Amino acid sequence: MVIAPKIRGFICLTAHPKGCEKSVLNQIEYTQSKGPIEGPKKVLIIGASTGFGMASRITSAFGSNAATIGVFFEKPPQDGKTASPGWYNTAAFQDQAKKAGIYAKSINGDAFSDDIKNKTIALIKADLGKVDLVIYSLASPVRLHPKTGILHRSVLKPIGTALTNKTVDFHSGVVTNISVDACTEDDITNTIAVMGGEDWEMWIDALLKADALENNATVLAYSYIGPVLTEAVYRNGTIGRAKDDLESTAFKISDKLKHIHGQAFVSVNKALVTQASSALPVIPLYISLLYKTMKQKGTHEGCIEQIQRLFRDRVFSGNTLLTDEKGRIRVDDWELEAEVQSEVAKSWALTSTENLAELGDLEGYRSDFLNLFGFGFSGVDYLEDVNENIPIDGLQ
Ligand code: NAI
Repeated sequence: MVIAPKIRGFICLTAHPKGCEKSVLNQIEYTQSKGPIEGPKKVLIIGASTGFGMASRITSAFGSNAATIGVFFEKPPQDGKTASPGWYNTAAFQDQAKKAGIYAKSINGDAFSDDIKNKTIALIKADLGKVDLVIYSLASPVRLHPKTGILHRSVLKPIGTALTNKTVDFHSGVVTNISVDACTEDDITNTIAVMGGEDWEMWIDALLKADALENNATVLAYSYIGPVLTEAVYRNGTIGRAKDDLESTAFKISDKLKHIHGQAFVSVNKALVTQASSALPVIPLYISLLYKTMKQKGTHEGCIEQIQRLFRDRVFSGNTLLTDEKGRIRVDDWELEAEVQSEVAKSWALTSTENLAELGDLEGYRSDFLNLFGFGFSGVDYLEDVNENIPIDGLQ
C-alpha cells in the first residue's frame, strides 16, 4: 500500500516501514562512524523499540557487538493496516543484526506482566545464560499491576496549584496559554505506579532470582529533570514524583546487586521529541526553543548521540563513573548549560504564534515528530507501493 501520515493530535496512526528502516540504518551508521566501545556483551533492553531504548539497543549491538534481547509493546501489522513504528524499527534492527552476525531476539508484550518477565528470563537462560547490562527504558501511560490487578493510569499534571503556561500546537504553530488543573493524591499514586521504580525493581528481582545477571552487571534506567520553565508540569508535577521514585529505586537495586558487585544507575537524559514527550503539555514549545539554541551552538543531540555519549564517555569509559550529588549520571549537561537556558528563557518570554518560526525550531520539531513514524526521510519514496506486512525476524 501507499502509506501517508495520518496524524491525530500528538500521535500518528500510520507508520512507514521503509522510513522506519531508514531511521534505524541512520542510527547504525552513526554508531559505526564513532568506532567500537569496549562495552557490554549481553544486554537486555526493556522498552527497546523506539526512542532511547532503540538507541540503546543499536549502541549495544553495533557499538559493542553485544547480543541483545529487546522487549517492547507494539502493534503488529495487518493486511491494509500498518504496524506501530517500533514494530518496523525492530524488524529493520533484527535484519541488520542478522546480516552483521550479531545475536538479537525480540519479545512483544506487556513488560509489566509476570508472563513477559518469565518469557524473557527463560530466553536469557536458554540463549545467553546471563546478561551484563539491563536497560529499562519504558514509557507508558498505563500499567496493569501484576499482583493487584489494578489498572493504573499516569497523568501529567502539576501538584498543589493549577498551572497556566505557554504551549504550542506543533502542527499549526499556534502558541496559546494552557491551563492544567492540579492533580489529586490518587493521580500521584497512579503515576508513580506506572512510571516509578516498582516495575524496574520487579524485573531485577526476577533476574536475580533466576541467576540471570553476570557479576559486575550494570542496570540503567532513564530520567529527566529539565529547567525551571517546565518544572511545574514536569519535575515538580506527577511525572516528577514518579522520576523521584525511579531514582531512589536505583539505590535499592544497587543494594540488591552488591553480592554480584553490580550497580544500578539512573541516567538523566536530554529533552527530545519522542512519542512519550509529544504527549506532554508545555514541553513541545520548550523543545522547539531548546533545539534552536542547541543547534546554533552545535550541541544538539538526538537519542542515538545521547546514548553514544552515555556509553562511551560515562558508563563504559573505563574511568570512574561521575555522578551528581544524587548519584545520577548526567547527559543532560549540554541542555542545562546556563547560556543555553538563558537563551531559551529569553525566547520563551517573547514567543508568540507570529514569531515562533523565527525564535524556535518548529520545523525541527515537526520533522523529528514525522521521523518517529518513518515519514520525512530523504531517500525514501513515499509514493511507492510498499508491503506493510513486515515480520520481525527473531521475534519469540
Ligand atoms: P518511547 O515512547 O520512544 O519508548 C517507549 C518504549 O516503551 C517503547 O519501546 C515501547 O514499546 C515500550 N513500552 C511501552 N509500554 C510498554 C509495555 N507495557 N510493555 C513493554 N514495552 C512497553 O519513549 P522514550 O522517550 O524513549 O522514553 C524512554 C525513557 O526515557 C522514559 O523513562 C522517559 O521518561 C525517559 N526520558 C525521555 C526523555 C524525552 O525527552 N523523550 C528525556 C529523558 C528521559
